[in-house]
Amino acid sequence: MRYSEDIIEDVRMRNDIVEVISSYVKLQKKGSSYFGLCPFHNEKSPSFSVSPGKQMYYCFGCGAGGNVITFIMEYENYSFGEALQFLADRVGITLPKQELTQEEKRQEDVKKRLLEVNKLAANYFYFQLKHPQGQDGYSYLRKRQLTDETILHFGLGYANKTSDDLYRYLKSRGYEDDFLKESGLVTIEERGGHDKFWNRVMFPILDVNNRVIGFGGRVMGDGMPKYLNSPETRLFDKSRNLFGLNYARISRENYILVCEGYMDVIALHQAGFTQAVASLGTAFTPQHAILLKRYTSQVILTYDSDEAGTKAALRAIPILREAGLSIKVLNMKPYKDPDEFIKNLGAEAFRQRIAQAKNSFLFEIEVLKAQYALEDPEQKTRFYQETAKKLLIFPEALERDNYIQAVSKEHYIPYENLKRLVNQLGSRMGTGSGSAAESRWAAGSQMRNSSAAGGVETGNQMGISGLDGQEKARERRKKAGSEKEEGSRQSQRLLLTWLIERPTLFAKIEGIISAQDFVEPLYHRVAEMVFAAHEQGEIQPAGILNHFINDEEEYREVAALFNASLKESLNNEEQKKAFSETVRRVKKNSLDWAGKQAKDILEFQRIIQAQAALGSLHISLD
Ligand code: GTP
Ligand code: MN
Repeated sequence: MRYSEDIIEDVRMRNDIVEVISSYVKLQKKGSSYFGLCPFHNEKSPSFSVSPGKQMYYCFGCGAGGNVITFIMEYENYSFGEALQFLADRVGITLPKQELTQEEKRQEDVKKRLLEVNKLAANYFYFQLKHPQGQDGYSYLRKRQLTDETILHFGLGYANKTSDDLYRYLKSRGYEDDFLKESGLVTIEERGGHDKFWNRVMFPILDVNNRVIGFGGRVMGDGMPKYLNSPETRLFDKSRNLFGLNYARISRENYILVCEGYMDVIALHQAGFTQAVASLGTAFTPQHAILLKRYTSQVILTYDSDEAGTKAALRAIPILREAGLSIKVLNMKPYKDPDEFIKNLGAEAFRQRIAQAKNSFLFEIEVLKAQYALEDPEQKTRFYQETAKKLLIFPEALERDNYIQAVSKEHYIPYENLKRLVNQLGSRMGTGSGSAAESRWAAGSQMRNSSAAGGVETGNQMGISGLDGQEKARERRKKAGSEKEEGSRQSQRLLLTWLIERPTLFAKIEGIISAQDFVEPLYHRVAEMVFAAHEQGEIQPAGILNHFINDEEEYREVAALFNASLKESLNNEEQKKAFSETVRRVKKNSLDWAGKQAKDILEFQRIIQAQAALGSLHISLD
């Protein structure tokens, strides 16, 4: 979707950021900014700031930042177009329609109609459930101890025994066959259309914005398949949505319970655990983990206690870990799933199980242990070795040691022995000091974990240490290069931050630094806009940010740039020196870079002269 810069800027300026965010977050004024609890991570004391002057927000805790448009995108999980539409509606601006291409318009239209038709179907199923023709469905749900309130809250319904009534209903509302086919609610055959779901209780699946995007339907007995789900449509992406997240995202807990089934989520919510979600009959995906990360930093897995549930948990743990979530695993025994547990022992007992949930690494070790007959010394040794290997996934020595302690305590393995074993294995895999080597240590251990235990040991070892010498050297070179680069980036970032924060500094660098001297591509683009805006009189951070909105990584970095406030003003001597030094560094890097690109000897000489002159450069801030 392409809107003109003017329109975007108009929508942004008419939506005051403090006003908009206030309707989501309780804000308090402190000095020239407002503070509140960050909606993008869990915290107890406010580190989320909103600046009316800059029209930007920034969280000092999690680094989330941006302007009013990105706030709505992140909070409501909207695309750029949707956020813009939302904000335009809010202030009564009509966005020009003709800017969509034909194809985009068609796509938007299909999406809109899919939402409509899913909503109609959900209402239809609910209506059926509550009328005589839905008696079977209603009593099934009641038998499973769901209250009327819960049924309404989740919009549960019933697809009756007539095999084409939904189809006919939707036809009567004007939807044509081709479109209905795409909705996944009906199948169209030669003899006419048929409902996909019949004689099932229906679970509407809502996205985080409470829009119905698909359905799960359960047979009311032992029929097969037990659950039938809507097929994926351009609305319904199973790997990016979680059942119950629309409610869980606003729960007050600082963790989310992830379970396997729709019924588990519903039973948990009914018992007061509104922080429960489930995947949609598919395996847990990295996209699910990223989605969860938006709303929480901790996940408690409440998968079924049977073998399949344990396997699913073992698969989900590394995915969640990769997303940077902290993970615990809840023990449901002797019951199969949360639904049964609550029915038998009640909410209070479940709350206790939450409190006792186990660290996911210790859970993994516990499962590992069950595979060995520990009364056999050989198997016991094998268990210790495998445990030591797994401990190598922690690249950081202190953290690793904490886990060595915890494991040795829980499984009565003498701490010193386990530690020695871990170190032995680690050094056999060629760990030296330094983080590059350490992260490779981790990679090595994962490779080994996936290979069969035993026999292959020596070959594997050789493979790894054979790579070692070369790789170490390469890593070292790469690291040295990137450290220098990082230093250069940092100087550019710092200088840019200072200039934004205090425009009077532009006078100090006149004739020395221009936008051209910011060689890092992203900073270069920002610098060009900042320098141009300064020339025209006023820098509008939130407006500049509009240009980066299509790339989340970019706008976050630019937002941080605009918000990194000067910790201390540039008053004391040290800070003044830092400024002069930073300007010199930026200029030097820029000249180095120009030197590499120089096309002729004259240009090169000019650069050399400028480099020599740099030595005596001093900028006084007084
Ligand atoms: P109840 O048996 O009614 O308590 O449901 P449950 O939610 O506990 O289901 P279960 O633990 O058997 O399965 C967990 C989840 O896997 C379900 O909620 C569905 O999303 C999915 N699932 C289960 N059976 C099927 C099936 O036959 N087909 C498909 N596509 N998904 C299924
Ligand atoms: Mn169940």
